[in-house]
Amino acid sequence: MRILVTGGAGFIGSNFIRYFLRRYPETTLINVDLLTYAGNVANMEGFTAYPGYRFLHADINDREKLEPYFAAGLDAVVNFAAESHVDRSIEAPLVFARTNINGTLNLLALAQQYGVKRFLQISTDEVYGALGPEGLFTEESPLAPNSPYAASKAGADLLVLAFYKTYGLPVLITRCSNNYGPYQFPEKLIPLAIINAVRDEPVPLYGDGQQVRDWIHVDDHCRALERVLRDGRPGTVYNIGGRCERTNREVVRLILDLLGKPEDLIRYVADRPGHDRRYGVAVDKIRAELGWEAAIPFAEGLAQTVGWYLKHRQWWEAILSGAYMEFYKRNYGYRLGKTEHKDR
Ligand code: NAD
Ligand code: TYD
Repeated sequence: MRILVTGGAGFIGSNFIRYFLRRYPETTLINVDLLTYAGNVANMEGFTAYPGYRFLHADINDREKLEPYFAAGLDAVVNFAAESHVDRSIEAPLVFARTNINGTLNLLALAQQYGVKRFLQISTDEVYGALGPEGLFTEESPLAPNSPYAASKAGADLLVLAFYKTYGLPVLITRCSNNYGPYQFPEKLIPLAIINAVRDEPVPLYGDGQQVRDWIHVDDHCRALERVLRDGRPGTVYNIGGRCERTNREVVRLILDLLGKPEDLIRYVADRPGHDRRYGVAVDKIRAELGWEAAIPFAEGLAQTVGWYLKHRQWWEAILSGAYMEFYKRNYGYRLGKTEHKDR
């Protein structure tokens, strides 16, 4: 089997490659990653030694660099590469369109030209917009994205489906809820809360902290992706979720509890513009068709994740001390920084 994975130096992509190569060690797997601020060579530990593993430092928009790999024949493309953080998309939306929409289109065009057998697009439940207190997103929920990030992912989903309808490219789309686990970049809520709490720094909660996310451990997500890649029906969208809705405040309190830190580390800060109130995903379709269900209980997965960040201090200290940190402090001083706190 020969597959091309994009974004494999990021959080979910690196976990997926580790999982996939453990199960299918004979695979030839080309990992295409631009190594943006979120891509990290340290995330690739544990799989670079597989004989079939190759790393290609490239932009998914770079047709010239990618074409030889497509021309050599591919059984599958799995597209994780993206700008993935909502707050950044509010600050600087253009790169989200470039990578998430144009980049996906470039991969689709190559896949169609060279007859790739399966194209799996890693999408998000955020394309459905926000829920009120009741109900769940199904695959039939209308696309109603709110943030520039979510809009760029919805745009990519439409292009992916257009390639199925227009050219018969065998595509699959998964829309997963909020992931957590090892190697997640510390701009996202869970790793940020863990790292700030470990350092006795304030943990910022946006607005009233009562927004709800549906959390899933990254290992459960990777297992679902393998099921979809193998047995999903072309042209089909599959939701993936943990059926684990928690308010942000509940999540942060659990983390503080696990670390034995006081609740007064929580800082309520200005809300995110256009902040989606609630996400929750129905998983009936993937359960019925592919027999998949999330298996890792939140309390267990969160404790394991906290343990991972405690054990991998060097990993996140390197990130915090990098040039990226300077940018981050300048723009978002209150999040990871030591001093300024833009309290509400
Ligand atoms: P991440 O930000 O940790 O990793 C993204 C990776 O893509 C990085 O390694 C980065 O270097 C690479 N990349 C960015 N632009 C690129 C480009 N132009 N060319 C090549 N590589 C590029 O993201 P993540 O959290 O691992 O998310 C992976 C995918 O899963 C994304 O498509 C995201 O939309 C989707 N997703 C994420 C979540 C979540 O909770 N994190 C939930 C649902 C779906
Ligand atoms: P995040 O991890 O950025 O994921 P997403 O925006 O894709 O859901 O945020 C998860 C939730 O936590 C979201 O409601 C925003 C909130 N949040 C905070 O309250 N404080 C923070 O410092 C961050 C990063 C997020």
